[in-house]
Amino acid sequence: MKIFSGSTNKPLAIKIAKFLKQELSPLEIHIFPDEEKRVRVGDKVLGEDAVVIQSTSTNADKNYMELFFIIDALKRSGAKSVICVIPYVGYERQDHVFREGEGVSMQVIVNILEALAIDKLIVLDLHSSRITELFKIPALHLSALPIFAEIIKNKHWNNGDTILVSPDMGGIRRVKILSELLNNMPYIAIEKNRDLTSGEISMADIDTVTKKRAVIVDDMISTGGTIASAANLLGKKGVKEIIVFATHAVFSGNASKILQGSVVDKVYVTDTIDVAREKQFMKLEVLSVAEMIADKL
Ligand code: R5P
Repeated sequence: MKIFSGSTNKPLAIKIAKFLKQELSPLEIHIFPDEEKRVRVGDKVLGEDAVVIQSTSTNADKNYMELFFIIDALKRSGAKSVICVIPYVGYERQDHVFREGEGVSMQVIVNILEALAIDKLIVLDLHSSRITELFKIPALHLSALPIFAEIIKNKHWNNGDTILVSPDMGGIRRVKILSELLNNMPYIAIEKNRDLTSGEISMADIDTVTKKRAVIVDDMISTGGTIASAANLLGKKGVKEIIVFATHAVFSGNASKILQGSVVDKVYVTDTIDVAREKQFMKLEVLSVAEMIADKL
């Protein structure tokens, strides 16, 4: 098996290769003055199984194009099979038509990957598990929730003084799975009820969090707005500590500053997206999904 990495998340790709006692195979990615790219496989892949690892985080368009070119180069070089690992799947939030007249960007990406005839896809914590149904090729959907459960157990946060919190109703399935991994630890989902006159947001299940530690669980942090507003609501209800677990550190705009300056005490993310040095902050800790992915290759 030969392992290749696109340019978005080499640190994760190197770790995955290390677990498999391998080195990354060379890949030339040349960028022309007009920003077009040329990709060349720098290893013999004829008759080999090839793995390509590429997160399609910001800039999703560029990073998808690079991935498509790598897959094409591997196919043309005679790879027997191509396994595509996309630790963070860009456009996953656009998986259906929300308003009349919209396209379904996720479906377009799926169509292209299928047209490129990849043999298998490995992804992590998709925004909606329904996305795997869009694929006709085998798609393995892994989750960082067992990694989060281990931390919670090691910190003894599952001993009665902690409650799992989904920051919105859409994330309730995720938090329920984590609860099951932790012996049915109690959980709530923040139901944002907005008072249409005052604009004030209120939360259901208010009393259950008071004096407890709140562990907020989400699939991704983009602007940090969802986490900051959930944390503010929880803070007002008198929680003693707020911990956040989110798989994908998208960290758009000022997310890092917002999180560092928020009432949140600690933010755990994973390395599905490489967090640039300038986006790292004191409250942040990055957990690795490398072994979990390597185990499936
Ligand atoms: C929403 O449904 C998602 O699960 C995340 O809560 C959301 O995408 C986070 O975005 P932001 O950090 O911009 O609030």
